[in-house]
Amino acid sequence: MQKQTNRRSSRIATKGAALRFGPALMRRLDALGSITEIPGQLTRRYLSLAHLASVRQTEAWMAEAGMAVRTDPLFSLFGRYEGKKPGVPAIMIGSHLDTVVDAGRYDGGLGVLAAIAVVAELSRLGERLEHAVEVAAFGEEEGSRFPTHILTSSALVGAAKPALLDARDADGMTVREALAAAGGDAKAYRACARKKGEIAAYLELHIEQGPVLETKGLPLGAVTAINGSVRSVVTVTGFAGHAGTVPMGARRDALTAASEMILALERLAAAERDLVATVGRMKVLPGAQNVIPGRVEFTIDMRSPADALRRRAHARLLADLRRIAKQRGLGVDIDTFQENPALMLDAGVVEVVSEAIAACGQEPLRLASGAGHDAGIMAKLCPSAMIFVRCKDGVSHNPAESITAADADLGVQALLEAVRRLDRRLGRRR
Ligand code: GLV
Ligand code: MN
Ligand code: MN
Repeated sequence: MQKQTNRRSSRIATKGAALRFGPALMRRLDALGSITEIPGQLTRRYLSLAHLASVRQTEAWMAEAGMAVRTDPLFSLFGRYEGKKPGVPAIMIGSHLDTVVDAGRYDGGLGVLAAIAVVAELSRLGERLEHAVEVAAFGEEEGSRFPTHILTSSALVGAAKPALLDARDADGMTVREALAAAGGDAKAYRACARKKGEIAAYLELHIEQGPVLETKGLPLGAVTAINGSVRSVVTVTGFAGHAGTVPMGARRDALTAASEMILALERLAAAERDLVATVGRMKVLPGAQNVIPGRVEFTIDMRSPADALRRRAHARLLADLRRIAKQRGLGVDIDTFQENPALMLDAGVVEVVSEAIAACGQEPLRLASGAGHDAGIMAKLCPSAMIFVRCKDGVSHNPAESITAADADLGVQALLEAVRRLDRRLGRRR
């Protein structure tokens, strides 16, 4: 026991020490980042050939680190490193493999590959814990292909709505069809669900995607909460016509109406300190230079740490959109397809994360997440928390996303330390 304690403490970072995990992790992140649908940029949407290739590559890395590997019916990938006794509950660590369009290489990928580095280290040391350690590489977190944000972790906790499997991508393909094309079976999606008690806790390492840690000069943070969000698709229906012949006063232009609606959204969100709202995608139909737009579809993404404020603001926005459509003599249809309430992460696991960061010689700043994460869904099944890693200028969902090898190194150390501490803490509770 004494020997183990010494061995552990010798692994904690000291200033100026050579990086143990960072450089290799950064090389793997580069390799993962090169698996893309579109050459010249990183785009890896759920169930694309690139996503499936990233699953195969990650599977090989998991096996090499000593894990037994399997995919579930929705193509989430899991690697299991058994505990001292086989079949015991697992501490799950991980993140997601899908990306936004024209992404950076750290959102999601960092959490998956850092988790593999943690298991590789346990495996190298021959160290078995009271719990198994399971690495998760979720398939669909971003909602960048289908409007199904966080589908695969929702399936794991038994909360995926079957209607989401009928969601369509921009080419009209449903999740069911994409799964079948990938050799999967959507009908088996219920088999993704894990039983309560099978997973003792979930920990996710992720880039902060915001500026707080960098501003404070800190490499790591302990995440306490995840903001709530609502997502809608708005369809504005006007009347297409000739761009040269229809007088300005006689038009029912769906795009000018949508523009007024988007400015109303911006004004509404800007007036509240704790509210953000974004229109990230828009389709203009028929989409020709000399045709007045007859139909426009756009997305709304609204988030806040305060659910009551977000709900009130969303309701007011929808009333504004209907008023604008009416004033202009257009139709508007609003489909609100997803709502996630704000969520406090587990206080006990957040405490363990803070202790682990402190044990790595860093100040454990506590902060909330403005972005959504699989951890927010996993919290429905088991105590969950997150570690944030500083990213350059707080930039994310952008190819300029950047972290340092030194921060990545600290991230792996903190995750490893948190897993060991959690193993002891949860072991005492069992
Ligand atoms: C995921 O990145 C999200 O918060 O949209
Ligand atoms: Mn992410
Ligand atoms: Mn993301």
